[in-house]
Amino acid sequence: MDQKWTPIVPLERLLVSGSQRIVFKVIRGEKTVRCFVAARPDPKLDEKKRESDDDSVRLTIVRKFISEGESLPATFALEAACPHMGAPLDISDIEDLSGVPSVVCTMHDYKFDMRSGQCTIAGEKEGRIAAKIFPSKIADHSTEEGGKAPWVFVDIGDDILSGWNPVSEFYSCKWFKR
Ligand code: FES
Repeated sequence: MDQKWTPIVPLERLLVSGSQRIVFKVIRGEKTVRCFVAARPDPKLDEKKRESDDDSVRLTIVRKFISEGESLPATFALEAACPHMGAPLDISDIEDLSGVPSVVCTMHDYKFDMRSGQCTIAGEKEGRIAAKIFPSKIADHSTEEGGKAPWVFVDIGDDILSGWNPVSEFYSCKWFKR
């Protein structure tokens, strides 16, 4: 299958979001599939962002963080439906569990390694069920204003991007309603 790197969201917009995730949808055959992209939690950045509740100030903090390039976060893209019983992973907690970037399903607390999708909860389900993941990367992308900025790209393969939705109030109020 050919890689189809698709720009999903500017990195700064992902990082300024309180939940550090963005929902996107792809069309696969007859189906529309809900997915999300998330950034690995970064305690250093989170600490800096806590300095202000003001989104514009937080955006400045994030821009500085990116321009300094001290530690660009890893990003991950997954389908939103939990492989156990379908609960929405896109609104589940994202945590760093002993160095493993993980999404913890709200329904039964199963944990999934966001790098591989594998279930990491101890017990019979460990390694036997997996969330569907997409490769993702950060790369420069041309902006509407003519410059370049780092964006999160996702390899959506044969799927077709059909749109994206805000998760945080920041997105619903200030960006996606453009
Ligand atoms: S539905 Fe996600 S752990 Fe059960």
